[in-house]
Amino acid sequence: MSRQYYIAGNWKMHKTRAEAAELAKTLVSQLKDGKHKYLVAPSFTSLETVAAIVKGSNILLGAQNVAAEEQGAHTGEVSVLQLKDLGVQVVILGHSERRHTYKEDDALINKKVKLALKHGFDVILCIGETLEEREAGQAEVVCESQTLWGLSSVSATDLAKVTIAYEPVWAIGTGKTASPEDAEAIHAYIRKVIARLYGEDAAQKLVIQYGGSVKPDNAAQLMDKENIDGALVGGAALKPDTFVPIAKFA
Ligand code: PGA
Repeated sequence: MSRQYYIAGNWKMHKTRAEAAELAKTLVSQLKDGKHKYLVAPSFTSLETVAAIVKGSNILLGAQNVAAEEQGAHTGEVSVLQLKDLGVQVVILGHSERRHTYKEDDALINKKVKLALKHGFDVILCIGETLEEREAGQAEVVCESQTLWGLSSVSATDLAKVTIAYEPVWAIGTGKTASPEDAEAIHAYIRKVIARLYGEDAAQKLVIQYGGSVKPDNAAQLMDKENIDGALVGGAALKPDTFVPIAKFA
Protein backbone atom coordinates (compact mmCIF):
# COMPACT_ATOMS: atom_id res chain seq x y z
CA MET A 1 0.00 0.00 0.00
CA SER A 2 1.49 3.32 -0.99
CA ARG A 3 -0.92 5.57 0.87
CA GLN A 4 0.76 7.93 3.33
CA TYR A 5 -0.63 8.04 6.87
CA TYR A 6 -2.36 11.34 7.53
CA ILE A 7 -2.88 12.53 11.10
CA ALA A 8 -5.00 15.62 11.65
CA GLY A 9 -5.80 17.57 14.80
CA ASN A 10 -9.17 19.30 14.99
CA TRP A 11 -8.92 21.84 17.78
CA LYS A 12 -12.65 22.65 17.59
CA MET A 13 -13.74 25.68 19.67
CA HIS A 14 -10.73 25.62 21.94
CA LYS A 15 -7.77 27.89 22.61
CA THR A 16 -7.04 31.59 22.54
CA ARG A 17 -4.42 32.81 20.09
CA ALA A 18 -1.67 32.58 22.72
CA GLU A 19 -2.67 29.03 23.64
CA ALA A 20 -2.91 28.02 19.98
CA ALA A 21 0.52 29.52 19.29
CA GLU A 22 2.05 27.58 22.16
CA LEU A 23 0.60 24.27 20.96
CA ALA A 24 1.56 24.94 17.34
CA LYS A 25 5.16 25.78 18.28
CA THR A 26 5.52 22.61 20.31
CA LEU A 27 4.09 20.49 17.49
CA VAL A 28 6.37 22.05 14.88
CA SER A 29 9.37 21.18 16.99
CA GLN A 30 8.24 17.72 18.13
CA LEU A 31 6.96 16.55 14.75
CA LYS A 32 9.76 17.87 12.58
CA ASP A 33 11.19 14.37 12.19
CA GLY A 34 7.73 12.73 11.96
CA LYS A 35 7.24 10.42 9.00
CA HIS A 36 3.55 10.92 8.33
CA LYS A 37 1.43 13.72 6.88
CA TYR A 38 0.17 16.22 9.48
CA LEU A 39 -2.51 18.87 9.78
CA VAL A 40 -3.78 21.18 12.50
CA ALA A 41 -7.16 22.90 12.28
CA PRO A 42 -7.43 25.74 14.81
CA SER A 43 -10.46 28.02 15.26
CA PHE A 44 -10.84 30.76 12.65
CA THR A 45 -9.60 33.32 15.18
CA SER A 46 -6.25 31.55 15.57
CA LEU A 47 -5.62 30.73 11.90
CA GLU A 48 -3.41 33.74 11.20
CA THR A 49 -1.33 33.16 14.32
CA VAL A 50 -0.88 29.45 13.64
CA ALA A 51 -0.22 30.05 9.91
CA ALA A 52 2.89 32.03 10.76
CA ILE A 53 4.13 29.24 13.04
CA VAL A 54 3.55 26.22 10.79
CA LYS A 55 4.77 27.96 7.64
CA GLY A 56 7.70 26.03 6.15
CA SER A 57 7.12 23.07 8.52
CA ASN A 58 5.71 19.62 7.72
CA ILE A 59 2.34 20.58 9.27
CA LEU A 60 -0.51 21.70 7.02
CA LEU A 61 -2.98 24.38 8.08
CA GLY A 62 -6.67 23.52 8.04
CA ALA A 63 -9.95 25.29 8.73
CA GLN A 64 -12.84 23.55 10.45
CA ASN A 65 -15.52 24.81 8.07
CA VAL A 66 -16.17 27.32 5.29
CA ALA A 67 -19.18 29.12 3.87
CA ALA A 68 -20.95 27.70 0.83
CA GLU A 69 -20.81 31.07 -0.94
CA GLU A 70 -17.74 32.95 -2.12
CA GLN A 71 -18.68 36.25 -0.49
CA GLY A 72 -21.64 38.51 0.19
CA ALA A 73 -24.30 39.14 2.81
CA HIS A 74 -23.70 36.09 5.02
CA THR A 75 -23.43 37.32 8.59
CA GLY A 76 -21.18 35.17 10.74
CA GLU A 77 -19.76 33.10 7.88
CA VAL A 78 -16.15 32.84 6.65
CA SER A 79 -15.34 32.56 2.95
CA VAL A 80 -12.91 30.54 0.86
CA LEU A 81 -11.28 33.81 -0.24
CA GLN A 82 -10.64 34.80 3.37
CA LEU A 83 -9.20 31.38 4.20
CA LYS A 84 -6.95 31.44 1.16
CA ASP A 85 -5.73 34.88 2.22
CA LEU A 86 -4.61 33.40 5.55
CA GLY A 87 -2.69 30.54 3.95
CA VAL A 88 -5.17 27.81 4.81
CA GLN A 89 -4.56 24.71 2.68
CA VAL A 90 -7.23 22.25 3.82
CA VAL A 91 -10.88 22.55 4.83
CA ILE A 92 -12.70 20.04 7.04
CA LEU A 93 -16.30 19.65 5.86
CA GLY A 94 -19.31 17.69 6.99
CA HIS A 95 -18.07 17.18 10.54
CA SER A 96 -20.77 15.50 12.62
CA GLU A 97 -21.03 18.57 14.86
CA ARG A 98 -21.81 20.62 11.74
CA ARG A 99 -24.28 18.01 10.51
CA HIS A 100 -26.09 17.35 13.76
CA THR A 101 -25.73 20.44 15.97
CA TYR A 102 -25.81 23.01 13.18
CA LYS A 103 -28.08 21.07 10.82
CA GLU A 104 -25.88 21.17 7.74
CA ASP A 105 -27.41 18.80 5.21
CA ASP A 106 -25.74 16.78 2.47
CA ALA A 107 -26.63 19.27 -0.28
CA LEU A 108 -25.03 22.15 1.63
CA ILE A 109 -21.95 20.07 2.43
CA ASN A 110 -21.60 19.11 -1.24
CA LYS A 111 -21.82 22.75 -2.24
CA LYS A 112 -19.02 23.58 0.21
CA VAL A 113 -16.89 20.65 -1.00
CA LYS A 114 -17.16 21.83 -4.61
CA LEU A 115 -16.46 25.46 -3.76
CA ALA A 116 -13.42 24.57 -1.64
CA LEU A 117 -12.01 22.32 -4.40
CA LYS A 118 -12.65 25.00 -7.01
CA HIS A 119 -10.53 27.39 -4.95
CA GLY A 120 -7.66 24.94 -4.70
CA PHE A 121 -8.15 23.65 -1.16
CA ASP A 122 -7.78 20.05 -0.14
CA VAL A 123 -10.85 18.74 1.64
CA ILE A 124 -11.40 16.35 4.51
CA LEU A 125 -14.97 15.12 4.10
CA CYS A 126 -16.35 13.66 7.34
CA ILE A 127 -18.96 10.95 7.30
CA GLY A 128 -20.38 8.71 10.01
CA GLU A 129 -23.48 7.12 11.44
CA THR A 130 -25.26 7.82 14.72
CA LEU A 131 -25.70 5.13 17.38
CA GLU A 132 -29.36 4.63 16.40
CA GLU A 133 -28.34 4.14 12.78
CA ARG A 134 -25.65 1.63 13.74
CA GLU A 135 -28.04 -0.29 15.99
CA ALA A 136 -30.56 -0.39 13.15
CA GLY A 137 -27.92 -1.96 10.89
CA GLN A 138 -27.73 1.21 8.79
CA ALA A 139 -24.07 2.16 9.27
CA GLU A 140 -22.96 1.23 5.75
CA VAL A 141 -26.00 2.75 4.05
CA VAL A 142 -25.59 6.04 5.91
CA CYS A 143 -21.86 6.28 5.22
CA GLU A 144 -22.40 5.40 1.57
CA SER A 145 -25.10 8.00 1.18
CA GLN A 146 -23.01 10.73 2.86
CA THR A 147 -20.07 9.81 0.60
CA LEU A 148 -22.17 9.85 -2.58
CA TRP A 149 -23.77 13.16 -1.64
CA GLY A 150 -20.55 14.75 -0.47
CA LEU A 151 -18.73 13.85 -3.69
CA SER A 152 -21.60 14.50 -6.08
CA SER A 153 -20.18 16.19 -9.24
CA VAL A 154 -16.61 15.99 -7.91
CA SER A 155 -14.29 15.03 -10.80
CA ALA A 156 -11.73 12.25 -10.67
CA THR A 157 -8.99 14.90 -10.78
CA ASP A 158 -10.46 16.70 -7.78
CA LEU A 159 -10.94 13.44 -5.88
CA ALA A 160 -7.16 13.34 -5.55
CA LYS A 161 -7.52 16.38 -3.23
CA VAL A 162 -10.11 14.70 -1.01
CA THR A 163 -9.57 12.70 2.16
CA ILE A 164 -12.51 10.96 3.78
CA ALA A 165 -12.75 10.82 7.58
CA TYR A 166 -14.97 8.08 8.95
CA GLU A 167 -16.16 9.35 12.30
CA PRO A 168 -18.95 7.34 13.91
CA VAL A 169 -20.98 9.96 15.76
CA TRP A 170 -21.27 7.78 18.87
CA ALA A 171 -17.47 7.67 19.16
CA ILE A 172 -16.78 11.40 18.95
CA GLY A 173 -15.77 12.93 22.25
CA THR A 174 -17.35 10.03 24.15
CA GLY A 175 -14.24 8.03 24.97
CA LYS A 176 -15.88 5.10 23.11
CA THR A 177 -13.71 4.14 20.15
CA ALA A 178 -14.93 1.93 17.33
CA SER A 179 -13.11 -1.38 17.48
CA PRO A 180 -10.40 -1.62 14.82
CA GLU A 181 -12.49 -4.39 13.17
CA ASP A 182 -15.71 -2.33 13.05
CA ALA A 183 -13.86 0.71 11.75
CA GLU A 184 -12.00 -1.35 9.16
CA ALA A 185 -15.28 -2.82 7.88
CA ILE A 186 -16.65 0.65 7.11
CA HIS A 187 -13.36 1.88 5.65
CA ALA A 188 -13.22 -1.12 3.30
CA TYR A 189 -16.84 -0.54 2.35
CA ILE A 190 -16.23 3.13 1.55
CA ARG A 191 -13.23 2.21 -0.56
CA LYS A 192 -15.51 -0.12 -2.55
CA VAL A 193 -17.99 2.70 -3.05
CA ILE A 194 -15.18 4.91 -4.36
CA ALA A 195 -13.96 2.12 -6.66
CA ARG A 196 -17.46 1.84 -8.12
CA LEU A 197 -17.57 5.61 -8.73
CA TYR A 198 -14.00 6.45 -9.73
CA GLY A 199 -12.30 3.13 -10.45
CA GLU A 200 -10.03 0.85 -8.44
CA ASP A 201 -6.89 2.94 -8.88
CA ALA A 202 -8.48 6.09 -7.44
CA ALA A 203 -9.98 4.02 -4.61
CA GLN A 204 -6.59 2.58 -3.70
CA LYS A 205 -5.10 6.08 -3.59
CA LEU A 206 -7.84 7.58 -1.41
CA VAL A 207 -6.79 8.25 2.17
CA ILE A 208 -9.50 7.34 4.69
CA GLN A 209 -8.94 8.59 8.23
CA TYR A 210 -10.69 7.25 11.31
CA GLY A 211 -11.97 9.70 13.92
CA GLY A 212 -13.70 9.27 17.27
CA SER A 213 -11.82 9.07 20.57
CA VAL A 214 -8.46 8.30 19.00
CA LYS A 215 -5.85 8.19 21.79
CA PRO A 216 -2.19 7.28 22.10
CA ASP A 217 -3.13 3.79 23.28
CA ASN A 218 -5.48 2.88 20.42
CA ALA A 219 -3.98 4.76 17.45
CA ALA A 220 -1.54 2.06 16.35
CA GLN A 221 -4.13 -0.75 16.47
CA LEU A 222 -6.55 1.27 14.37
CA MET A 223 -3.99 2.32 11.80
CA ASP A 224 -2.65 -1.21 11.60
CA LYS A 225 -5.79 -2.09 9.64
CA GLU A 226 -5.39 -2.22 5.89
CA ASN A 227 -7.94 0.45 5.05
CA ILE A 228 -7.35 2.87 7.95
CA ASP A 229 -4.90 5.45 6.67
CA GLY A 230 -4.76 7.99 9.44
CA ALA A 231 -6.72 9.74 12.13
CA LEU A 232 -8.79 12.85 12.68
CA VAL A 233 -8.21 13.64 16.32
CA GLY A 234 -10.28 15.96 18.53
CA GLY A 235 -9.77 15.90 22.30
CA ALA A 236 -6.35 14.26 22.16
CA ALA A 237 -5.16 16.89 19.66
CA LEU A 238 -5.31 19.64 22.27
CA LYS A 239 -2.13 18.61 24.09
CA PRO A 240 1.30 17.66 22.72
CA ASP A 241 1.45 14.83 25.30
CA THR A 242 -1.44 13.06 23.62
CA PHE A 243 -1.19 14.29 20.01
CA VAL A 244 2.52 13.69 19.41
CA PRO A 245 2.41 9.96 20.30
CA ILE A 246 -0.58 9.53 17.95
CA ALA A 247 1.19 11.47 15.22
CA LYS A 248 4.33 9.42 15.66
CA PHE A 249 2.63 6.06 16.11
CA ALA A 250 4.79 3.18 14.98
P1 PGA B 1 -12.57 13.19 19.44
O1 PGA B 1 -13.10 14.04 18.18
O2 PGA B 1 -11.20 12.70 19.08
O3 PGA B 1 -12.58 14.13 20.59
O4 PGA B 1 -13.54 12.05 19.62
C1 PGA B 1 -12.85 13.62 16.88
C2 PGA B 1 -13.43 14.59 15.91
O5 PGA B 1 -14.51 15.14 16.17
O6 PGA B 1 -12.85 14.85 14.85
